[in-house]
Amino acid sequence: MRRYSRITGTGSYLPPRRLTNDDLAADLASRGIETSDAWITERTGIRARHFAAPEVASSDLALEASRAALEAAGVAPQQIDLIIVATSTPDMVFPSTACILQDKLGANGCPAFDVQAVCSGFVYALAVADAMIQAGTASRALVVGSEVFSRILDFDDRTTCVLFGDGAGAVVLQASDTPGILATDLHADGRHVGILCVPGNVSGGRVLGDPLLKMDGQAVFKLAVGVLEKAARATLEKAGRTDADIDLLIPHQANLRIMQSTARKLKLPAEKLFVTVDQHGNTSAASIPLALDAAVRGGRARPGDTLLLEGVGGGFTWGAVLLDL
Ligand code: UT7
Repeated sequence: MRRYSRITGTGSYLPPRRLTNDDLAADLASRGIETSDAWITERTGIRARHFAAPEVASSDLALEASRAALEAAGVAPQQIDLIIVATSTPDMVFPSTACILQDKLGANGCPAFDVQAVCSGFVYALAVADAMIQAGTASRALVVGSEVFSRILDFDDRTTCVLFGDGAGAVVLQASDTPGILATDLHADGRHVGILCVPGNVSGGRVLGDPLLKMDGQAVFKLAVGVLEKAARATLEKAGRTDADIDLLIPHQANLRIMQSTARKLKLPAEKLFVTVDQHGNTSAASIPLALDAAVRGGRARPGDTLLLEGVGGGFTWGAVLLDL
């Protein structure tokens, strides 16, 4: 009998400090940077984001999200046999945030590693966990996206600092006789490294280069709208399904206009597009599991529904996961 993987629990966590566009605009004005709620809302759909307190790390957000997902799945931390954390804002250069999370959860012994695919990170991590479960090397995986992007924002650059937020989301993915994950499709094009990056690095005890986020927003926008439909269609074809089978599209939450463009290309009505970017901003690898948990807990994604998850971001990376809940 074929072995599949299935999501059995979801969880998420947002740090308590919430900033509306007006709050952020007021903060930036005190630094001489001009922006407005109207600009941010019209261009991106973002109305608010959460920022973690300075002492809070990605593993702390991941811990809260993971506990909620484990509780929803009825799985104890010690029963987990694989931990994958997707993050571009790890606690340390090394070891991985997944190892730090493992310790905080008290889940020692299982393999634990990070996946670095920026905003596509959760889709990458889910695809890797699915493959490991199908191969029989894991049976109960914890897959997490966690970010503190506020740490790598340049608050003198209004073209980027208004876009991002902090948060974490997690799923428990278990072996199953029935799918579960129906198909995955991952891609990268390293020729576009420079359009979205944090170019600095640690060398000789110092940070060399710029340790803050740089983005050519228009270049990212154009690439994103081009590739997302292709990845969606690839998963549908692999699974023998069509657009009409999608009950809910949960894309990476970066820009409402990109999400609506993908939904239109897949001929999905507005109610089949799940949006949290208005409340979370762009939380990079955390955005899809945060949205997924909101959809599940809010009753928008129900058992048996077919969900399409799609990520796109730095690398340039992109991918999709089609699944039955
Ligand atoms: O998570 C990874 C994936 N990332 C994305 O998907 C991001 C994709 N890109 C985008 O979402 C959009 O390109 C942005 C939201 C980043 C920018 O929107 P845009 O419509 O491409 O605006 P733009 O960069 O062309 O800027 C338009 C104008 C410029 O002024 P001028 O040159 O026309 O006078 C900017 O200086 O808006 C100005 N501007 C701002 N004004 C007020 C840029 N940022 C701001 C701001 N507040 N925060």
